[in-house]
Amino acid sequence: MKVLVLGSGGREHAIAWKLSLSPSVSTVYVAPGNPGCPSVATCLPVTSTTPEAYLALARELGADLTVVGPEAPLVDGVVDFFQKNGLLIFGPTQAAAQLEGSKSFSKHFMQRAGIPTARFLDATTPQEAASALEQFAYPLVIKADGLAAGKGVVICPDKSTAQSTLDGMFSGALVGAAGSKVLIEEFLTGEEVSFIGLSDGDRVLPLEPSQDHKTIFDGDQGPNTGGMGAYSDSRILTADQRDFAMREVMDRTVQHMKKAGAPFQGFLYAGLMMTERGPMVLEFNVRLGDPETQALLHRMDCDFGALLFEAARGRVQPSLLNFKPDPSICVVLAAHGYPGTVRKGDVITGIAAAESTGASVFHAGTAMRDNQLVTNGGRVLGVTHSGPTLQAAIDNAYAACAHIHFDGMQIRHDIGAKGLKRW
Ligand SMILES: Nc1ncnc2c1ncn2[C@@H]1O[C@H](COP(=O)(O)OP(=O)(O)O)[C@@H](O)[C@H]1O
Ligand SMILES: [Mg+2]
Repeated sequence: MKVLVLGSGGREHAIAWKLSLSPSVSTVYVAPGNPGCPSVATCLPVTSTTPEAYLALARELGADLTVVGPEAPLVDGVVDFFQKNGLLIFGPTQAAAQLEGSKSFSKHFMQRAGIPTARFLDATTPQEAASALEQFAYPLVIKADGLAAGKGVVICPDKSTAQSTLDGMFSGALVGAAGSKVLIEEFLTGEEVSFIGLSDGDRVLPLEPSQDHKTIFDGDQGPNTGGMGAYSDSRILTADQRDFAMREVMDRTVQHMKKAGAPFQGFLYAGLMMTERGPMVLEFNVRLGDPETQALLHRMDCDFGALLFEAARGRVQPSLLNFKPDPSICVVLAAHGYPGTVRKGDVITGIAAAESTGASVFHAGTAMRDNQLVTNGGRVLGVTHSGPTLQAAIDNAYAACAHIHFDGMQIRHDIGAKGLKRW
């Protein structure tokens, strides 16, 4: 079958790579993809990102299945549009994508469904927000309701920070229209875990757990980024924690969405906080995480294309999904200045040498200029490797990273380290 992947980041390069290795897949297209993709797929330029434009492209290519990487086209309704026109696509409808598109929708849904999550109130006016603030102790968390590319959450240690955050949200200065509605949340403590399920709308299968590393510097210091690295290791969750997360979060979400008339088909990503009160959901995403995907797909040991095809048809089976036991890790190499103003155009060398160690090097912010590969975005590459132990996976990934160079390269040296205590 021919599969079309929508998106251009490291996640989509990894999805295209895994599909290219799938026995059921003959051709992989990526729209638009990135300079890493041509070795595994045919890249197609995208001039418009509307559902109509994607549908025309899928029709022209004769795609048997379309897989959506990022959240924006899902929230725009690309899945509804494909389904209305009789084309197979894997991802949630616009209604189901509200689990990510609106944090207020998501929290009210969790409350109704009895899914464990932090106490919250939402507000659409400064007056409402001011009285909501009185209901919480400090620190508290203020979140923009809408999509904000990771910039819509502020942890407020005191009232003056909370007040200036609310001012910035309601004025539009912080995250534009996404902040016209806000949530005020109880602050939770614990370790964060990314737990992702694959749902066909009725049944949900768990992927292996993973952990992201959000801040730019080692030891979880410095400003937040899109993610500086991730690892996947079954030991991140105990059997009890995994059962709890499946039962109380994944199954419950899928069953309640179905009952509400908005069945959730796609990747359901629960950001969990492992609190003393048990696992609690910080947020849902309605797609795979980046860079969790790169680590997860490196470990995946099954026909990814067949899995997604059956899930898109509402017929996913546990026997279609399998992972190697070996932990995996993706170390992100970021550009000079990231997560602030990013410098572009630094020449990248050493990818072939890194890959000769068995690593997969997924591209994100790269470009070809005068026949040279150069940096072109904040997160440039994701160097991904596995090993028989977590320590071996870490050593393998960092040995591969040592081959790669570009001026201003930023790398965290402790990706996966918080998992070593479980060995
Ligand atoms: N209730 C909370 N208590 C403590 N930390 C939180 C809470 N909600 C979010 N955070 C922190 O903020 C980060 C971003 O919040 P999240 O809800 O995942 O939004 P987004 O990923 O859309 O920016 C989380 O990964 C977590 O570290
Ligand atoms: Mg998040």
